[in-house]
Amino acid sequence: MKKHCIYLCSLLAGALWLTAACSAPAELKPICSGEIWPDADGTHINAHGGGVLYHEGTYYWYGEHKSDSTSKALVGVMCYSSKNLTDWQNEGAVLPVVENDTTHDIAKGCVLERPKVIYNKQTRKFVMWFHLELRGKGYSAARAGVAVADQPTGPFRFLRSSRVNAGQLPADWSAEQRAALDTLNADHYKKWWTPEWHDAIDKGLLVKRDLEGGQMARDMQLFVDDNGKAYHIYSSEENLTLQIAELNDDYTAHTGRYVRVAPAGHNEAPALFKKDGVYWMITSGCTGWAPNEARMFSAPSIEGPWTQHPNPCRGPKQEITFGGQSTYVLPVAGKENAFIFMADIWRPEHPIDARYIWLPIEFEEGVPVINWRDSWTLDWFDK
Ligand code: DGJ
Repeated sequence: MKKHCIYLCSLLAGALWLTAACSAPAELKPICSGEIWPDADGTHINAHGGGVLYHEGTYYWYGEHKSDSTSKALVGVMCYSSKNLTDWQNEGAVLPVVENDTTHDIAKGCVLERPKVIYNKQTRKFVMWFHLELRGKGYSAARAGVAVADQPTGPFRFLRSSRVNAGQLPADWSAEQRAALDTLNADHYKKWWTPEWHDAIDKGLLVKRDLEGGQMARDMQLFVDDNGKAYHIYSSEENLTLQIAELNDDYTAHTGRYVRVAPAGHNEAPALFKKDGVYWMITSGCTGWAPNEARMFSAPSIEGPWTQHPNPCRGPKQEITFGGQSTYVLPVAGKENAFIFMADIWRPEHPIDARYIWLPIEFEEGVPVINWRDSWTLDWFDK
């Protein structure tokens, strides 16, 4: 009888343990900025300068494939998928570079940076935009490239690359501002950073220079607003001025409408998000691969006016964005006001070893703040 009881008790205990174990929430994996982030195969994720798309229950992380010794594109745009934002499956190169034609816009060896993907509900296509520099031409092309796919994991079909909005002046310029362009003579402003040069940049010296061929487009972001309108945000005018350009209904071209932000402010790496009707944008300065202090702007409308705020970063190396450079702000699906700041810690001598910074954005009196955390879990947003 005693033996029987012990047997029954241990059965019961086992069942109770099983029930408890099954109903306990799965343990969340920590997010450790600056560390190696292994994918499902145990290999460090290779998706730099990236962004994340959430589609039908899955997150897709797109980014630049970096190789061992060069930052040039030898593979193309990578995609990783995840259900939980911590475990990522490599989906491969969804926009591969072209191997057999050195004259192709995205020929192997070009510079293909900061790819972002958005979903168009009307066309049901996935649209990718990226910063493109032509093979062998350094950073002089300053083009935007676009590709489309039927599935989030591609394959993406390259459509074209070009500068942006040729022949168009900023949408918010008055007749007076447009007329003032005629008075700007580039020969008078050869020396940079003088008050006169600053004033001339503000008035559109480089907008005028690039009017015919289109505006330069380097570091970039995409943003889809609540009304479905999409925007391309990019460093233009020799990286001196950001431009925010409206995309057409299928998101594969510009409409010709654009505004400028912070002329001569030297902003790169724009990352946008919207909270309670306010548009926020985190950017960096322009110091190549070396980190610098993050900047932050807000606006009541995507077309501005944009107001600058203090650096949102707090903690060790806050004055150099914790050693990184912004790339994206990721809204966490299903949670209100949950945003993750994504940045890259570049390693130009060993680009494949570049690391990721993912930190939760906090709000102090409505203003975003990014505190450094060695390690955190997603339930931070539930607190
Ligand atoms: C900084 C940019 O943000 C990067 O995407 C890359 O273009 C480097 N400059 C190149 O120096």
